[in-house]
Amino acid sequence: MDKICVIGAGYVGLVSGTGLSEFGHNVICVDHDEEKINQLNDGIIPIYEPGLKSLVEKNYNNRLHFSIDISKAIKKSNVVFIAVGTPQKKNGETDLSFIDSAVNIIADNINDYKIICTKSTVPVGTGERIEKIILSKNKSTMFDYVSNPEFLREGSAVNDFMIPDRLIIGAKTSKAYNIMKNIYRPLYVNETPIMNTSIETAEMIKYAANAFLALKISYINEIANICEDVGVDVHEVAKAMGQDGRISPKFLHPGPGFGGSCFPKDTLALSYLGKKFNKPIKTIDAAIEVNNNQPMRMIEKLNILLDNKISGKKVAVLGLSFKPKTDDIREASSVKIIPELVRLGVTIHAYDPIAMKSFRNQFPDINYFESWEQAIRGTDACIILTEWNEFRGIDLKKVKSLMTTPVMLDTKNILSISKLKELEFKYDNVGRKFPI
Ligand code: UGA
Repeated sequence: MDKICVIGAGYVGLVSGTGLSEFGHNVICVDHDEEKINQLNDGIIPIYEPGLKSLVEKNYNNRLHFSIDISKAIKKSNVVFIAVGTPQKKNGETDLSFIDSAVNIIADNINDYKIICTKSTVPVGTGERIEKIILSKNKSTMFDYVSNPEFLREGSAVNDFMIPDRLIIGAKTSKAYNIMKNIYRPLYVNETPIMNTSIETAEMIKYAANAFLALKISYINEIANICEDVGVDVHEVAKAMGQDGRISPKFLHPGPGFGGSCFPKDTLALSYLGKKFNKPIKTIDAAIEVNNNQPMRMIEKLNILLDNKISGKKVAVLGLSFKPKTDDIREASSVKIIPELVRLGVTIHAYDPIAMKSFRNQFPDINYFESWEQAIRGTDACIILTEWNEFRGIDLKKVKSLMTTPVMLDTKNILSISKLKELEFKYDNVGRKFPI
């Protein structure tokens, strides 16, 4: 079994490191954030990710360790994964400073042959840059560089790690490829497709895949917008489209626009790359533009539901995270919509089953409630921004009885239109015409 060091105990590093320990390897997850490492050593998981806590507990101190001693962990390992953050500069370019500092520490601690493998999403050409940095500091060729992008979704990351659709291993030498393949042995014996590509191809695959999924969402959102005008149900359209195997039914759910730490950042990075090579990727630029407009369309809808008199109203916002089963609010529609509503003079009553702490840190001045019932009480309208199961099964009769006026904007299309009609809600959604 391999000795593995994972640099960066964020959601990619933590899930991957834990998953690799479950595969039987000895893993040390390292991070310069001492508080995070202390929490992990105390059994506290710093992120909300279903299934992660039990998997950490199962492997902790047996094959899974947490440490701040990055140099020691590198020296002890034969494979070093880089899973640090790659934030974005204002112009869309990727900020590689965390990658660079990880690579410099690695270069200083190569004491034996090692695989240096990047899991973070990095622009095409970063592998070459990493190799150069290591070689400039360490003249030995006692390493092989590998690009092994991850395809984990927040909220189902453990499952995605254990049962991936495919593995991409960008490796130059058969030695490196075979070591990597062996690391994922439990997967390839289960016949998970593995592709051995060049390093640059692996880097490009990640951006092309994420941007394509984002494009699909913007596409269905535009179709949804026009469906409203022509009196068509977008879900019927999406279902029929998805029955064509070439299209697939996934990622055709309309809504207030995509968010999270990946799609918004990766589409901008791909767009930046296109412009850099004087080959603008117009489809992705359009997907970004559509996504920027979509939250503002939701505000227009709410204003119309409130007879164009939104100022001074009390609005319950149900759902703050960028998707269910996570406490992540990065680029969530709530982050775009709530400040604009506040600017328009709306009093917000917010509730989310998991993400209120993260949201409160960023927006301390709005009103938070401990349940949807409390949040909704005495409000003039309600807007659903995240499709938590708790809201799918919400008791609409009770909702109506608690609100001042029964006005509902369901941006995730999770409520029953017939039930809303029956209860005489003033109602709107995305992509289905409904008399209001
Ligand atoms: C995404 C990819 O799905 C993963 O494969 C990838 O590994 C990850 O980015 C990453 O690069 O690390 P994630 O951002 O966790 O995963 O979440 P998704 O489930 O892809 O959802 C992203 C956004 O699109 C959410 O705001 C979601 O609500 C929205 N979405 C998704 C829609 O609006 N409609 C859909 O049909 C699907």
